[in-house]
Amino acid sequence: MATATYMQMPNDLLRISDLSASQIAQLLDLAVRMRDAPGGWTDSLRGQSVACFFEKPSTRTRVSFAAAAYRLGMQPILLRPDELQLGRGETLADTARVLSSYASAIVIRTFAQHTLEIIAEEASVPVINALSDTHHPCQALADLLTIRDYFGRLDEVRLTYVGEGNNVAHSLLEAGALMGMHVTMATPPQLAPNLRIVAQANELARTHGGSLRLLSAPIAAVRDAQVVYTDVWVSMGAEAQQQEHMAALAPYQVNPVLLAHARPEAIFMHCLPAHRGQEVTPDVIDGPQSQVWRQAANRMHTEQALLYLLVTGTAAYGSRNRVT
Ligand code: CP
Ligand code: NVA
Repeated sequence: MATATYMQMPNDLLRISDLSASQIAQLLDLAVRMRDAPGGWTDSLRGQSVACFFEKPSTRTRVSFAAAAYRLGMQPILLRPDELQLGRGETLADTARVLSSYASAIVIRTFAQHTLEIIAEEASVPVINALSDTHHPCQALADLLTIRDYFGRLDEVRLTYVGEGNNVAHSLLEAGALMGMHVTMATPPQLAPNLRIVAQANELARTHGGSLRLLSAPIAAVRDAQVVYTDVWVSMGAEAQQQEHMAALAPYQVNPVLLAHARPEAIFMHCLPAHRGQEVTPDVIDGPQSQVWRQAANRMHTEQALLYLLVTGTAAYGSRNRVT
């Protein structure tokens, strides 16, 4: 099955803008091929392993990466912080070097983006961001596939994100900008996305034919949207800010009144986990416009393609799998 020739990939995926538009398009095409032939790739990376280190809870990312690895014939090794020597003072750099000699890729969910950058610097195998406080690139890849499945295209699709300008929002900004989408974001001013990431995404949008708009009024932002997207009001690690987030975000709930301002054919998306009655009402997330289950399912297909392309996709396949 794995006979096609693929373009060279970056060494790591720490944020969506590590990929080019054509690399993303290639990845989405491969994800569809893998989705269509679930048993067709089990010899692709047989005998190899992927180390999955999660410092925060996860249902979708953890399980979808493990399932994606099995579909490639790989052994996923799932690791919690208390199982590694990191908790007893071993450095990130030493951990990265050692894991590189056992595994063909390292998947990490952590807090600081800088942790990922240190590990990527020292690892000799691809490092994949499975969510940090700042980015969630694997989520955005599944989001793009879900939107492309539904509308048959990505360029010029109008997506509105309503809520906190968080990790999911940052990755959507970058993904939408790269793929020529029109992305609007409605956030309370004090929970706006990171301005540096916005500036970088604006530059990408300018060169790829898309556009970005940051607003604070949710109704104005949703008007004419084809995709309405939201996320939890309190991200993992931000529990201390729960009260202020809940108060600031209350007007940003995606409910039938807000959704009625979008185009009639608009779909609803959410990275999940969802809190019904907070960021979204049950009639929206469980209603006919919701694509959230397809979106969650696409996590596995896009991650299978990502693992395959990163592990095999450097110019000298295998050259990173050595102890230096
Ligand atoms: N969307 C997402 O990343 O879900 P998990 O936190 O369950 O992995
Ligand atoms: N913004 C959320 C996403 C969860 C998948 C968080 O970081 O908790």
